[in-house]
Amino acid sequence: HLQPEQEAAHGVLSMQRCRMQGGSPGFKVALLGASGGIGQPLALLLKMDPLVSVLHLYDIVNTPGVTADLSHTDTSTIVRGFVGKDQLEASLVGMDLVIIPAGVPRKPGMTRDDLFNINAGIVRTLCEGVAKCCPNAVVHIISNPVNSTVPIAAEVFKRKGTYDPRRLIGVTTLDVVRANTFVAEVLGVDPRLVDVPVIGGHAGITILPLLSQVKPVYSLTKDEVTYLTKRIQNGGTEVVEAKAGSGSATLSMAYAAAKFADSTLRALRGEAGIIQCAFVPSQVTDLPYFASKVLLGRNGVEEVFPLGPLNEYEREGLAKLKMELKASIEKGITFVATQS
Ligand code: NAI
Repeated sequence: HLQPEQEAAHGVLSMQRCRMQGGSPGFKVALLGASGGIGQPLALLLKMDPLVSVLHLYDIVNTPGVTADLSHTDTSTIVRGFVGKDQLEASLVGMDLVIIPAGVPRKPGMTRDDLFNINAGIVRTLCEGVAKCCPNAVVHIISNPVNSTVPIAAEVFKRKGTYDPRRLIGVTTLDVVRANTFVAEVLGVDPRLVDVPVIGGHAGITILPLLSQVKPVYSLTKDEVTYLTKRIQNGGTEVVEAKAGSGSATLSMAYAAAKFADSTLRALRGEAGIIQCAFVPSQVTDLPYFASKVLLGRNGVEEVFPLGPLNEYEREGLAKLKMELKASIEKGITFVATQS
């Protein structure tokens, strides 16, 4: 006799039986922008996550092919494809988590803010769908500029009367993943053992790694701190330039988004003590949104932690980033306010 989880590994029918027997049912996740550079590898990683029982792939192009391909992998997750605006709502009904990497990426010479004109409208439309079809879902925003697209999502949800600040999260995990990697490289240690908090926002100098708070405690020289801070802030641009016009970070972003999605789902399931950095509605500074460590739980973000003690270099970085971040947040809010 097989355990329900083992049975689930045998396919869809067994999965349904697993549910009927009270086995862990997993969560329903929608990925919007699923055919893109981030979307495709992220879809693969989500299909491999045992906590995802149903995976909906939505895009304006190519999802039938991506879905057919992915559906041949022998994991128990059920995958369904949705293509074109007419199928957006069907892709969202009943979802627990919606992950949004839809939109255009940067080319060399572009800032994330240069993407605003195209991506702002895309995020607005997709969030209107979320408000209508799965107002209780946790929403992960990946589309750039995150510093503006998260406020846009919030304004859409407020207009629709579905806003819950605990359930709206801008994904900055890639900044932490990069920080852990680069710091580990300098120290000559395993990156999996390093934990670097990254605060602020997700663009250039608004990305502020707190190298004084690296865990476990390591001492870095002043030159190492300067080098690491700049490299972490420019990590995205490093990839954009290396890709020379064919896009921005996709594989490392898919890895980071899958890691953050898994943390969120484990917390939704009731696992305690899951702490990640994320760009969220916040009161830890005088700005309405800020990235810092947050506690994830059954309702999304249960607690936003204060920044902790900063050294002088970090205090200067914080003062500088706040002006730029404030302007990006206001740009997002104004975008929705000026739409009919
Ligand atoms: P991509 O161009 O390869 O893929 C974007 C996908 O979105 C395409 O398949 C496209 O058809 C789809 N799309 C466009 N309009 C849509 C709509 N209205 N509804 C649904 N899907 C739509 O771009 P990539 O490389 O996957 O990047 C996606 C976004 O993620 C960009 O805005 C990029 O700047 C951002 N990004 C964010 C990071 C972060 O740390 N938060 C890191 C890296 C990228």
